[in-house]
Order: sequence, then structure tokens, then C-alpha cells
Amino acid sequence: MIKFARLVVPAIAVLALMACGKQPVDEEKTAELIQPVGRVEMAGAASASTPEAGGAPKSGEEIVQTVCTACHGAGLLNSPKIGDKAAWGPRIAQGVETLYKSALEGKNAMPARGGNPALSDAEIKSAVDYLVKQAK
Ligand code: HEC
Repeated sequence: MIKFARLVVPAIAVLALMACGKQPVDEEKTAELIQPVGRVEMAGAASASTPEAGGAPKSGEEIVQTVCTACHGAGLLNSPKIGDKAAWGPRIAQGVETLYKSALEGKNAMPARGGNPALSDAEIKSAVDYLVKQAK
């Protein structure tokens, strides 16, 4: 009986050690398995921060394509169409400062800042520059 106990106890101890020794391996494997989830979350966090970067001034092209095109795209209200050299020629001849003023303050059916008061002077000017460039 004593002999049996001497054999069994170490055997149990070895089994227990083996079981414990297995645990770290399983944890590693678990970490490996959930890693892609962690990576996706990181990617999500990275893209979630991009709108903040979008707080920078919009480009002239972007403003024209989103705001000014509402009228200037199809020549609504007799506005000079984007890229229409004949319509823009005489206006460009007035000088770019006059065009800036019209765009900033409005002119006849042309609303001040294209009806978008949130746009800065610099943004309106770069939109005018873009319109002028398209008609040259
Ligand atoms: C609601 C329609 C509308 C929107 C939106 C609009 N425009 Fe106009 N725009 C006009 C009309 C109409 C004219 C012609 C005005 C005139 O000469 O009687 C015009 C003329 C202009 C001119 C020529 C002004 C001149 O002195 O000859 C510029 C430059 C211009 N728009 C820039 C812009 C810019 C930049 C935007 C966007 C930020 C914009 N417009 C958005 C209707 C619009």
C-alpha cells in the first residue's frame, strides 16, 4: 500500500504539472485566435480618426463638385456652366478679384458663397480658381 502510494502520488504530480504546462500554450493559441479581431479594431480606430483630418480646408475642386455644381453644372438660372469657355470668357476678363467678390458677396441670382455660409473666404476663392481653370 505504501509502495502504491509512492508511485501514484508522483504520477498525479506529473499529470498535474503536465496539465499546468499546457495552460500557457492554450493561452498563446487563444491570443493568436483573437488577434485578427484586435487588428480589425485597430484599423477601425485608425479610420475613425480620418474625419478629423477632413477638418482641413476643402479643395476648390471639392467645393465646386459638391456646392457650385448645383447651378454651374447645368447652367441653372443662366449661370455660366463649368468649362464653358464662351460663358466664362467675358467674366474672366473682368479680373479674378471681381469674380472673387461676386462669389463671396453674390451677384444677381448667384447667392453669396454659393449659398453656403460655412465656406471660408479661402475656400470660395479656391473654388473660383478651379472654375476659372476649367474654362481656360
Ligand atoms: C443657386 C445657384 C448657384 C450656385 C449654387 C452657385 N452659383 Fe455662381 N452663379 C450663379 C448665377 C446665376 C451666376 C450668374 C450671375 C450673373 O452674372 O448675373 C453665377 C455666377 C458666378 C460667377 C461669375 C461672377 C461674375 O462676376 O461674373 C462666379 C465666379 C461664381 N458664380 C462662382 C460660384 C462659386 C465658387 C460657387 C460655389 C461656391 C457658385 N458660384 C455657386 C448661380 C449659382
